[in-house]
Amino acid sequence: MNYNQLDKQLIWHPFTHLKYQKENILITKAKGVYLYTNDGRKIIDGIGSWWVNVHGHSHPYIVKRLKEQLSQMEHCIFSGFTHIPAIELAQKLSKIVPVKQPKVFYSDNGSTSVEVAIKMALQYFFNLNQKNKAKVIAFRNAYHGDTFGGMSVAERNVFNLPFKKNLFQTYFIDIPTEKNFHKVKQQLLKHLAKQNVAAFIYEPIIQGAAGMIMYDAKFLDELIAICQQHQVICIADEVFTGFGKTGKLFASDYLKHKPDIMCLSKGLTGGFLPLGVTVANKRIYDAFVQDDKTKTFFHGHSFTANPLMCTSALANIELIEKSDFLEKIRQLEKSHREFAMSIKNHPVVKDVRYKGLVLALEIQTKDKTHYLNELSKEIETFFIQKNILLRPLGNVLYLVPPVCITQKQLSYIYTTIKEFLVKLSTKSFS
Ligand SMILES: Cc1ncc(COP(=O)(O)O)c(C=O)c1O
Repeated sequence: MNYNQLDKQLIWHPFTHLKYQKENILITKAKGVYLYTNDGRKIIDGIGSWWVNVHGHSHPYIVKRLKEQLSQMEHCIFSGFTHIPAIELAQKLSKIVPVKQPKVFYSDNGSTSVEVAIKMALQYFFNLNQKNKAKVIAFRNAYHGDTFGGMSVAERNVFNLPFKKNLFQTYFIDIPTEKNFHKVKQQLLKHLAKQNVAAFIYEPIIQGAAGMIMYDAKFLDELIAICQQHQVICIADEVFTGFGKTGKLFASDYLKHKPDIMCLSKGLTGGFLPLGVTVANKRIYDAFVQDDKTKTFFHGHSFTANPLMCTSALANIELIEKSDFLEKIRQLEKSHREFAMSIKNHPVVKDVRYKGLVLALEIQTKDKTHYLNELSKEIETFFIQKNILLRPLGNVLYLVPPVCITQKQLSYIYTTIKEFLVKLSTKSFS
C-alpha cells in the first residue's frame, strides 16, 4: 500500500500551506529522541513534536502504566461519575501547581484548557452579578490556541485573520522590558480604569508561538500584582511553558505573585496523549457553588478526564519526581548558553536567546514578515536533510528537545546550525 499517496488523497494536515505541501514524512516508530521513518531514517526530534514530549518518545515507564490502565478501563463519563486516575492526578497536581487551594478541571487539549479558563473568569463575575466585568487584557504577540476564545485573546495576525470580525474585543498591552515598563504600566492602568476588566491572560516568561519571545519575570510580577489589586483574575497560560520548558517546573515558579487560574496541556502527559487541565483557586470555584442552577459551569467534553490521559500524566509527573529532571534541564541550558555565546556575533544572527530547554535564534532577513517569512521553508528543508526536525517560526529557528537528549546529539544539532549559518552568509537569501 502506498501510504504517502493515501495521505495526500485523504488527509488535511494542520498548519500546512496546501498548494505547495511536500510529501509528508511517514513515521513508523518513535523512541527516545528519535522519530523513525518507513524508509530507514532516524530523525532527531528537536522540538519535542510541537513541544509536547518531555522524557523522550515511548518512554517504557509511561508505556507500562498505560498498558496497566488499559486493561482496567479505557474511558467512562465524568459527570456524575469519577475514577482513580483523575483523583490521583488532581492530588498530585494540587501539590505542585502554584495556585492556592486548587480545583482541577479537565478538558482535552491546550486550546480547551484556555477556553475553560476564560469562561471561568467571565462567569465568575456573571455569577457575582458584576456583569459589566467582561473584558480580557492580553499581551501583544500572544498565542493561546485555535478556538474562538483563544484566538480572541491573541494578537490579531495571520493565524486568525479570516475570523477577525468574529473575535471578541480584547485590550492589548506591550510585553514589558526594562525600557518600556513605565509605558506598559500606564497601558494596563488605563484599561483597568474602565472598570470592566475580568481577566488578564499571559504566557509567563516565554511567548512560544510568537517566536520564543522571552521577558523578565520581575515585570510580569508587578503587572500581576496590579491586576490582583484591581480584583482582576490572572490566568497563566502554561500550555507551552509548563513541565520544565523554562528551567523550573512551571514558569510561574519564577514569580512572587501566583495565578488565580492556570492552563496546562502539552507536556502534562509527557507528550503521550492529549489532556487539558485548568486549575482554578477556591475563590473562583466558590462563586459557582450556588442554589441558582443558571450559575452552573455548563462546560464539558466527551473525553473529559479520560483515564488513559490521566494515567499518562501521573506517570509523567512520577518520572519527573524520581529523576534529576530540573538538574538535567540546567545542564541543557548551560550547553545552550555556551552555544549562544559562540554564535551571537555571527553576521546573520539578529538575536539568540535561551531559557531552560529553549534555544531560539532569530535570523536576519530582508523579508520583514514573521511567521510567513520565506526563510522558514529553507530552514526546515536544510535540517530535515540532516535528519533533524526543527520547525521554525518564520525566521526564528528554535530548539525544545526532550530532556533525554544526549550531549552528543545536542552537539550534532549545534554543529549543523553553524553549518546553516555559514551557508546563509555565503548565499544570498531573499
Ligand atoms: C501558550 C499556548 N496556549 C495554548 C496552545 C494551544 O494548545 P493546543 O495546540 O494543544 O490546542 C498553545 C499551543 O501551542 C500554546 O503555546
